[in-house]
Amino acid sequence: MGTNSLPTSERHAEDFSGDELPFSERDSAHLPGHWLLARLGKRVLRPGGLELTQHMLDHAKAEGGDVVEFAPGLGRTATEILGHSPASYIGVDEDPKAAAIVGQIVAGRGHCITANASDTGLPEASADVVVGEAMLTMQSDRGRQKIIAEAARLLRPGGRYAIHELGLQPDTLDTKVKNAIRKELAQSIKVSARPLTAAEWTALLKDAGFEVDWVDAAPMALLNMKRNIADEGIIGVLRIVKNLLKDSQARSRVLTMKRTFTKYKKHINGIAIVAHKLG
Ligand SMILES: C[S@@+](CC[C@H](N)C(=O)[O-])C[C@H]1O[C@@H](n2cnc3c(N)ncnc32)[C@H](O)[C@@H]1O
Repeated sequence: MGTNSLPTSERHAEDFSGDELPFSERDSAHLPGHWLLARLGKRVLRPGGLELTQHMLDHAKAEGGDVVEFAPGLGRTATEILGHSPASYIGVDEDPKAAAIVGQIVAGRGHCITANASDTGLPEASADVVVGEAMLTMQSDRGRQKIIAEAARLLRPGGRYAIHELGLQPDTLDTKVKNAIRKELAQSIKVSARPLTAAEWTALLKDAGFEVDWVDAAPMALLNMKRNIADEGIIGVLRIVKNLLKDSQARSRVLTMKRTFTKYKKHINGIAIVAHKLG
């Protein structure tokens, strides 16, 4: 059976490709980095990898709760969240193609709306858990404050906000180095990227009325072979390599990204935090 004929509730992130993906009309030289990697077949698009996501979800305690996921992308984490048996799942992605993909992955158990996470239109105090990965990093300072405020508005008191983003280390990192990292990341991934230190991420959450319960980090190994075998499986890695061999623009982009990640590997990581709403 071809993947397109699978019943919708049995579709997974790996089943979507080509025109179904966001930005399918754009050439590989100009695609935002995460959609370039998605076109190549990568499905785990957050800096700390699937294992850090799984630890984060264990601490978010989604079982039996109402879950909202900001920016689910291709729905890889949506599948993990459903594995925790939530009472309900709502994805919120601003890209209509991503929202359509996630809608099919969670069909029968939840749905996905096309909206900006800073203004979801969902009812106040309607969620027990809000999850968001690899999405705050790419916002302006004001943009991420608005998204965190929206998470606080959606959560019931005591509800958990789980984030997984690009981190900087150590907390004392020099401002000049931070600025150089931001500039080079933006140039190579072609999306504004503003990673923060653990202290800065924690302060943002505290300012919005959260208390931090758990913090963990993993190396930023998005393009490392070992991480990719763990996250995408051998078949997934072979698919990525095959697609890379066919697309010279994509190869050159990936090499540039990898060079930037390697240059700053001491100072960038994947950081995950679970905080609860006070009050
Ligand atoms: C890097 S991908 C992350 C996908 C997924 N969370 C993951 O970790 O694999 C970024 C996703 O965030 C979505 N996105 C970015 N900013 C957003 C916002 N303000 N509101 C809703 N979705 C957003 C994009 O459309 C895209 O699907």
